[in-house]
Amino acid sequence: MKSNANLNVVILAAGRGTRMQSDLPKVLHTLAGRPLLAHVLDAARALSPAKIIVVNGHKAELVHAAVAAPDVIFVNQSPQLGTGHAIQQAVPELAPGGKTLVLLGDVPLIQAQTLMPLVEGAANCVSMLTAILEDPHNYGRVVRDARKKVKCIVEQKDATRAQLNIHEINTGIFCYPTARLAGWLKQLKNNNKAAEYYITDLVPMAIKARVPVEGTACSDTAQVEGINTRRQLARMEREYQRRLAANLLNTGVTLADPARIDVRGELRCGQDVVIDVGCVFEGRVTLGDGVRIAPYCVLRDVDIASGTLVEAFSHLVQASIGANCRVGPFSRLRPGAQLSADVHIGNFVEVKASDIGAGSKASHLTYIGDSSVGRNVNIGAGTITCNYDGVNKHRTIIEDDVFIGSDTQLVAPVTVRRGATIGAGATITKEAPADQLTLSRAKQMSVPGWQRPVKKT
Ligand code: UD1
Ligand code: CA
Repeated sequence: MKSNANLNVVILAAGRGTRMQSDLPKVLHTLAGRPLLAHVLDAARALSPAKIIVVNGHKAELVHAAVAAPDVIFVNQSPQLGTGHAIQQAVPELAPGGKTLVLLGDVPLIQAQTLMPLVEGAANCVSMLTAILEDPHNYGRVVRDARKKVKCIVEQKDATRAQLNIHEINTGIFCYPTARLAGWLKQLKNNNKAAEYYITDLVPMAIKARVPVEGTACSDTAQVEGINTRRQLARMEREYQRRLAANLLNTGVTLADPARIDVRGELRCGQDVVIDVGCVFEGRVTLGDGVRIAPYCVLRDVDIASGTLVEAFSHLVQASIGANCRVGPFSRLRPGAQLSADVHIGNFVEVKASDIGAGSKASHLTYIGDSSVGRNVNIGAGTITCNYDGVNKHRTIIEDDVFIGSDTQLVAPVTVRRGATIGAGATITKEAPADQLTLSRAKQMSVPGWQRPVKKT
């Protein structure tokens, strides 16, 4: 999208969001894992404007902390006396000339392409985005005259019965000639039911000043839906996920059920990826060609190379997995788990901050932490790297072609040399030499004549 050097974007985000019934400011409630306001900022940035100004007020420090960035200017509105009063606070920051686009922090699905016609409209004109909604309840209604020209906007609270029947609503998204804003805002009054200064009252002012007001309806109504309640938020989340799933299907991903996937971040897929139901993808996840994800897996910031299968109920965070691996069911990969190709991590195996070489296996009930595991290593069931002495973490090194018998503890720092075999039930505290069998368990013995105790009566 081309840059708009004469454009200001102001995002209103000072309100409390009373109808959310929450301690958290409304614009910080999350959609697809990110604050509502962050989604609106995406749309603003895609327009490459001269300035982006966020008006915050209620819990301003929280809002600031959540979305602060070098390209965003914050202005404070306190107390919050309405949407018109909010934009007033931004006036001193506006780059002069050009146009000023107003977005609402609680309208998260808006896309830059939808905003372009408003921004590109005639210089001396107020453009407003409207929508025809089946249920216009709670929105401001667009009142037009006999010739269908926009006359004014009335809020639900202030509307007459006849006006309540209007289905064309104000999306709250406007684009104004910047030079006119300050003058109009000075004339705002709060003589309405809410006793607020309404931004919508600028419309009749523009008409009076003979500045044309163009209301264009957006046909994709989800893009302009405002979120005022948790029910609306839940509905918008589903809508967002539905769109995202459709996108994945269009790009060649198989989804067992497009209604049962949640992506809270960025999911990139190669060819012929298959995703079963109930999986959650967070942060940045990349799946190579032919990767299959079985039901109910959680993946956050994970990179998986082609041909790998992740079996059901696996939890993978900040891990990188090579080609043709098999992970799960019930595996846990924690930050810094790095698997090479052809690795098998089985059920109830936890891997943290460890590299596992190609062809190695840990199939059952194991903890591998702060370790380097070589190639073609077999780690038996119940093996634990004892990486923590209560104060510090230490590393375990297991070289290529090692076989670790079941129920072994490797007390770090410790090294198992190439080709070594560790007998089951060992507690390894010293280096195990290459190509030898190392045992540390007591010799098996039996006590002749021993009798089981009997219960005292
Ligand atoms: C507003 C519009 C309504 C429109 C609807 C679209 C007005 C008077 N009403 O109503 O016509 O149909 O949006 O979703 O403009 N805000 C501030 N400071 C304030 C008040 C609000 O920054 O003093 C911010 C809020 O944080 C929110 C946005 O403005 O992000 C909209 O406020 P909200 O109270 O939700 O307005 P609506 O009643 O939905
Ligand atoms: Ca709203």
